[in-house]
Amino acid sequence: MSSEPPSVPRHIAIIMDGNGRWAEKRHRPRRFGHRAGQKAVRQCVEYCLRHGVPVLTLFAFSSENWQRPPSEVSALMGLFVKALDKEVDELHAHGVRLNFIGALERFEAPLLQRMQAASHRTRDNTALQVNIAVNYGGRWDIAQAARTLANEVARGQLKADAIDETLFGARLCLSELPAPDLFIRTGGERRISNFLLWQLAYTELYFTDTLWPDIDAACLDAAMADYAGRQRRFGRTGAQVSGEPVAH
Ligand code: IPE
Ligand code: IPE
Ligand code: MG
Repeated sequence: MSSEPPSVPRHIAIIMDGNGRWAEKRHRPRRFGHRAGQKAVRQCVEYCLRHGVPVLTLFAFSSENWQRPPSEVSALMGLFVKALDKEVDELHAHGVRLNFIGALERFEAPLLQRMQAASHRTRDNTALQVNIAVNYGGRWDIAQAARTLANEVARGQLKADAIDETLFGARLCLSELPAPDLFIRTGGERRISNFLLWQLAYTELYFTDTLWPDIDAACLDAAMADYAGRQRRFGRTGAQVSGEPVAH
């Protein structure tokens, strides 16, 4: 029997890139693009609900994005606060579970409290889990997992020799979920930008030039169709994966 993975991804991870350029093309301030990007997030969540994608992880703010001009950073923080105030009721009504990953302690109390309240309120929802990566970096994630393990060893709860990929992976963000099947980056750049470094090891990568605020169902259909046509081999041969008799 072949072990073909289902053609609908169990987990999609997205770098939502291109908001600034979308605004600049319209001679508007960059924050205008971030606001337009919020609508695209809504479309994307609806798409996942409609198509039975159970997990969606969105990169909203990287650990490196603090280096942007203070006015853009504060516009983004203000937008996050407003978005949570505006969207959580409806997301909850649709059965969406919200989860935030990243070094959340860096955020100011009004935003942090809203994130915690939204996670708590939606924690029993099962239609779709949306993970929002904020002040997240793949290297940070790996470092915090290493620190956690080192502390466990120091306390005598764990032997250093017992650390393997499974144990390490279990200390990373999203460890309770399947790894992303499909990664999408909008906005034309072909890089990972310190997103989920460990978790993307065998993810199918899809890049589109479409700027994030322009993302719609047709763009997501194209990514899903591309994904459905991939053969995922995980190191094996094509014949092994497709269930053909193995040639010796
Ligand atoms: C992505 O869009 C949103 C964040 C990083 C917060 P950008 O703001 O990076 O948009 P471009 O890449 O400059 O167009
Ligand atoms: C990645 O986009 C981070 C987010 C989308 C939140 P960036 O625009 O920050 O990435 P680089 O700087 O082009 O690599
Ligand atoms: Mg960018």
